[in-house]
Amino acid sequence: MRPLSDSVLMEGRNIWTVNANPGVAIRGETLRKFRGVEHRRWDPNRSKLSAGILRTRKDPSDLLPLPGSTVLYLGAGHGTTISHLHDHLCGSSNQYRGRLVAVDLAPRCLRDLTHLAEHRPGIVPVLGDARKFDAWGVLVPARVDWLFQDVAQAGQVGIFLSAVRRFLSKDGIGLLSLKAASERHQDGGDQDIFDSAIQQLSQEVEIIEHINLTGFEDQHALFIIRRR
Ligand SMILES: C[S@@+](CC[C@H](N)C(=O)[O-])C[C@H]1O[C@@H](n2cnc3c(N)ncnc32)[C@H](O)[C@@H]1O
Repeated sequence: MRPLSDSVLMEGRNIWTVNANPGVAIRGETLRKFRGVEHRRWDPNRSKLSAGILRTRKDPSDLLPLPGSTVLYLGAGHGTTISHLHDHLCGSSNQYRGRLVAVDLAPRCLRDLTHLAEHRPGIVPVLGDARKFDAWGVLVPARVDWLFQDVAQAGQVGIFLSAVRRFLSKDGIGLLSLKAASERHQDGGDQDIFDSAIQQLSQEVEIIEHINLTGFEDQHALFIIRRR
């Protein structure tokens, strides 16, 4: 059993987060008590952040933001990863005083995120386009130290670098989940897409690690970067 923070535990190939909303599972995940405290299993097949934590060759806790900080998440979806991140960043009744700005352009995702936020204070759901941050950037008044993007649409690297420039602090950590299939209009296979992402990213940021997520999410890579 290896704690990554007060709220995240690694137990062999399983990751667990302390449930900030006890008794409630978000997507049918297993609930289990460790030392009397309810945890939720963070499924690496449903969360690229969880898969990255399991697969990194570095310290897995480096992939997580500091509890109590403000973070930005682009492509929040229905809130699966957001909920576990909330367990870590905010905790029950937002005891750590974190803030998780969760942006998605799909109204049905926003509906789920809004429902999640009602029971999980600290989540700020935003209906918005990651490319058009002038419309919602006011909700992120200061630069953040941690930014995650999982938008699965064409031009993912460009969208990510614009967000890094606008929102990430110097030395801040950015995580880009890159879905090769979303860039299919380009010539070449997945490896060419990942190689061209590395080239584009390395012109502006330091690439800390390139994690291949095959097996958890095929045709996906997770890039961990630091802003210079
Ligand atoms: C793969 S899903 C995200 C899953 C989520 N990150 C999770 O782990 O639970 C990709 C999401 O990106 C959203 N999306 C796609 N293009 C976007 C854009 N330009 N701005 C914001 N969200 C976008 C989609 O609506 C979709 O919900």
